Amino acid sequence: MLRIGVIGYGYWGPNLVRNFVATDGAVVSLISDLDPAALKRAQASHPMIRTTPNDNDIILSPMIDAVVIATPVSSHYELSKRALENGKHIFVEKPFTASVRHAEELIELADTMNLKIMVDHTFLFTGAVKKIKQLIDDGVLGRLFYFDSIRINLGLLQKDSNVVWDLAPHDLSIMDHLIGSNPVSVAATGTAHINGFEDVAYVTIFYPDNLIAHLNINWLSPVKIRMTMIGGQKKMLVWNDLKADEKLKIYDRGVEINNKEASYNARINYRSGDVWVPRLEQIEALQAETQYFVDCIENNLTAINDGVAGLRVVRMIEAIIESLKTGGCAICLQKTHAPVRSVSLYPAELGG
Ligand SMILES: NC(=O)c1ccc[n+]([C@@H]2O[C@H](COP(=O)([O-])OP(=O)(O)OC[C@H]3O[C@@H](n4cnc5c(N)ncnc54)[C@H](O)[C@@H]3O)[C@@H](O)[C@H]2O)c1
Repeated sequence: MLRIGVIGYGYWGPNLVRNFVATDGAVVSLISDLDPAALKRAQASHPMIRTTPNDNDIILSPMIDAVVIATPVSSHYELSKRALENGKHIFVEKPFTASVRHAEELIELADTMNLKIMVDHTFLFTGAVKKIKQLIDDGVLGRLFYFDSIRINLGLLQKDSNVVWDLAPHDLSIMDHLIGSNPVSVAATGTAHINGFEDVAYVTIFYPDNLIAHLNINWLSPVKIRMTMIGGQKKMLVWNDLKADEKLKIYDRGVEINNKEASYNARINYRSGDVWVPRLEQIEALQAETQYFVDCIENNLTAINDGVAGLRVVRMIEAIIESLKTGGCAICLQKTHAPVRSVSLYPAELGG
């Protein structure tokens, strides 16, 4: 039985506790929060689980095997490091860390200690993302042209970070999982209106093979929208995550040039075929993910959302933040290029 301690019982922590309580092979032994009101809520919902204001009661306890970290990103590195140093596996909230350097250090530490890191990239465990992954891997969509996401709502403004750190990790982890290749460069613009942190941002990500991605993320929207479109050569899809049913629609639509003449003579065909609504697995993503955490530890598996996946997301966020600071200059992400540097917005002008 994996004995779990949860640090952070604010907005998201209660969801983690509820799901770990229902996970086979796991027992939640202790919950910690600095805020007495949060501990009171924990006691009311889980009278059988002990609580403490001191995270060391979890981190130093020989009766705890794994630590779940559900605190703001600014504390992820320090808590993760202490937990790993004390021999605990860690399940860390997204985004993994506030810097690439910290993520790399934690991955190395976990390797040395033979411990697992899992980063909560919740969406990878949704029925929709599992189905989209299957459609891409089976070649149903064909070569990918674009990934376009709108993730907007009113609030929840964070006290220590901007909308990119809060909302973009969802899309970046989904893209990292679905696309499976490293981006070439990113360019981002954004503005701060309320508390000094960007609350509206537009992010463009360039991948090899002309695949382009765009994220519209916004804390100041009057309406909540969670909509992703993915365009492929063979099929296109629309994923509306807020719909109770028919979340995912696959369109047999596209554009084809039907002869080999120069493009100005070629005949362009618009294909407008069937629309298909696939059946999605009905599961609570977090429940699947907490079970996967226990399975990965029991069977020594490398998780799809391990520390290295978390690092790839943090690397993209760091580049996005860098681009925001320059007012939208593209930041190169390919290892073959010189260290991260600002270049023109257009990838064709990246140079060698
Ligand atoms: N996976 C998801 O879909 C999802 C959704 C929301 C939030 N999150 C992530 O969860 C994390 C927490 O976000 P939140 O919205 O719950 O924040 P929150 O501010 O509501 O809660 C954080 C809690 O951590 C406590 N805390 C901070 N440092 C502590 C320490 N050293 N010991 C004990 N308690 C401590 C605070 O008192 C607070 O109650 C963030 O990384 C956020 O990005 C993930």
